[in-house]
Amino acid sequence: MIDFLENKPIENWDVRAFIDQCLAWIKETVGESSVILGLSGGVDSSVAAALIYEAIGSRLIPIFVDNGVMRYKEAERVKEMFAGYPELNINFVDAAELFLGRLAGVSDPEAKRKIIGTSFIEVFDSEAKKHDDAAFLAQGTLYPDVAESITADGKTLSVKSHHNVGGLPEKMNLKLLEPFRRLYKYQVREIGRELGMSPRLVDRHPFPGPGLAVRILGAVDKNQVKILQEADEIFIDELYKWDLYKETWQAFAVLLPLQSVGVEDSKRTYKQVCALRAVNSSDGMIAKVSELPLDFLLHVSQRISNEVSGISRVVFDISSKPPATIEWE
Ligand code: XMP
Repeated sequence: MIDFLENKPIENWDVRAFIDQCLAWIKETVGESSVILGLSGGVDSSVAAALIYEAIGSRLIPIFVDNGVMRYKEAERVKEMFAGYPELNINFVDAAELFLGRLAGVSDPEAKRKIIGTSFIEVFDSEAKKHDDAAFLAQGTLYPDVAESITADGKTLSVKSHHNVGGLPEKMNLKLLEPFRRLYKYQVREIGRELGMSPRLVDRHPFPGPGLAVRILGAVDKNQVKILQEADEIFIDELYKWDLYKETWQAFAVLLPLQSVGVEDSKRTYKQVCALRAVNSSDGMIAKVSELPLDFLLHVSQRISNEVSGISRVVFDISSKPPATIEWE
């Protein structure tokens, strides 16, 4: 029997055996309680939702929290993606003002992560109060999140405090339920496929819990979020159009707190720089730059600087992990 709480990857991976044992473990752990699940629209929390739903049905309470630093039109996309699961009753909570208010003026990456982790838990706790029998908070935490946030003795921060692990507050009213904490993303994708989830959802690139807050370097505000959302949407849209989305493991835009001189209609401009990042990896622990075609990058760069007001220069990040991490913060 798998020990789902151990701090190490699963050995002898067999997707069907994992699903069967995990369903039994969830039923036993949860008993008659309800489970709150932070549904972000990402692969991990979406597959977790499908799996936990299979174990406990409508006692799963999925909550999508709009924290103001999600991808472009993410709430609408999540509605579309789960349109085929009418029985999954998703609660949409608009907490953008709360998160952005707390993030205002904060530039330190670890401070941003902690604010987001703590605020998420607060929102989930307050939603949980609406459900008398809610005793658990389910998260799609993966093994690399665990490995990078804590050392083997379970204590110190090793690389960064992934918001869903090291960024959690010390005192929480809900107990954590993390069925994937011993898995890598490719294994979660296999579970999603095995459960019959749509490829568009299962193959979605990873997206970090702290969202665009760690892709806007320096302080985060509504305007910076809007600029980054638009630039990122163009990049991702073009990856799909050029049939390159699946050629890269993770791709996104980053907004730099830098202005550079440009020219528009023969006039000098002074606007921000956007970096494009695309990497290939199997688990996020090490990563190599995706060698996207130059004509593709030129096209994306032109669209971003023409269509996104506030950006006049686009650069492509050619750093591997290590020494750089995948995210810039
Ligand atoms: P790094 O930047 O550490 O990223 O090389 C490795 C992978 O993890 C994602 N990432 C996170 N995921 N919470 C998450 O759920 C986080 O706080 C977090 N930080 C980074 C990152 O997008 C990449 O896929």
